[in-house]
Amino acid sequence: MKILVTGGTGYIGSHTVVELQQKGYEVIIVDNLSNSDINVLSNIEKITGIRPEFEEFDLIDPKRTSEFFKKHNDIKAIIHFAAYKAVGESVENPLMYYGNNLYSLVNILKGMKESGIENFVFSSSCTVYGQPDELPVSEKAPIKKAMSPYGNTKQISEEIITDTINSNSQQLNAILLRYFNPIGANETALIGELPLGVPNNLMPFITQTVIGLREQLKVFGDDYQTPDGTAIRDYIHVVDLAKAHVVAVERLVADKCLKKPEIFNLGTGNGYSVLEVINSFEKVTGEKLNYKIVGRRPGDITKVWANPEFAEKVLGWKAEKGIDEMTFSAWEWEKAIAKNK
Ligand code: NAD
Ligand code: WQD
Repeated sequence: MKILVTGGTGYIGSHTVVELQQKGYEVIIVDNLSNSDINVLSNIEKITGIRPEFEEFDLIDPKRTSEFFKKHNDIKAIIHFAAYKAVGESVENPLMYYGNNLYSLVNILKGMKESGIENFVFSSSCTVYGQPDELPVSEKAPIKKAMSPYGNTKQISEEIITDTINSNSQQLNAILLRYFNPIGANETALIGELPLGVPNNLMPFITQTVIGLREQLKVFGDDYQTPDGTAIRDYIHVVDLAKAHVVAVERLVADKCLKKPEIFNLGTGNGYSVLEVINSFEKVTGEKLNYKIVGRRPGDITKVWANPEFAEKVLGWKAEKGIDEMTFSAWEWEKAIAKNK
């Protein structure tokens, strides 16, 4: 069964391709390599023994996207990862984000109609909840006004998918997956997160600091209303996250998707503070991190973690890996990058 993975050479996409192949799915990747490297394909092949089919093009190109779908009408489901994802960059250049994230989605949905492809998994984000009123946050929590153009592209994308389903203009079965904070890497350390330039996210900044690429991690704020004063997030191992996509595809293909669209939070249900992540990292790696506490980062929320019960009940999926496995695998990956330079 052939699955299209857009953004499949990227961080979460590459881990998902591995899990799909290991479950026997045939994978075709579309990526324009704007935030990933072609060598990821060889590394996927080293892990699974199979080189995924690959087409390099920009999904915002309507003609090219339509041609792709005409050529590949044997695709059974699509997992759509391809998007820009840097919050700060989206504030500086909103049109770049609205253009890329929304046009690509529209082109894909049109292509699905033209080719009669019905099954669609979308990468959404817990950012749609903002700072939730209640924790843990369930799928029923209200959507808050987006704090960045990036976050807004996720909210609008969810609406575009829902409107398309409701219009009855095409048969569309969709699952929207709202990720919490994915970190870590495949245990082989052959694939992982490859941030371009200075990382914005906590985990790659920690590993890059310890490997010597950055001087010092700035911990943004220790005056939050949390036990140690630093902000709390629900970090989830990227391999657990990748496995949830396989389950989502299985559900769509088996025609078990009841609500259209179905929405799931993908987190562990546990929140860790910035200092707890640092402590885990230092404990499992034996390395020392140079960090200092500075002021809060504008736009950051105090705390968020998922209620993952709905995903467990309906998808039968549950995150299995703990914070120590996440920080350990992230460090193994950083060392592998340094070794292969
Ligand atoms: P990533 O940047 O590593 O992967 C995205 C991939 O999409 C890259 O390989 C990039 O080259 C490709 N791409 C981007 N625009 C494209 C286009 N127009 N045409 C073709 N290819 C294009 O990002 P990721 O961390 O793997 O995130 C994957 C998805 O998950 C994104 O939609 C992101 O918004 C979402 N998400 C990520 C996180 C996170 O913390 N990483 C959290 C929640 C949601
Ligand atoms: C985690 C914690 C920071 C860097 C972002 C997006 C969100 C989602 C995931 C895509 C926070 C602190 C960080 C640093 C720090 N992506 N931190 N020093 O902000 O929860 O979520 O990525 O959808 O939409 O907003 O993740 O990894 O940036 O930060 O102290 O150098 O680490 O303040 O408390 P965040 P993050």
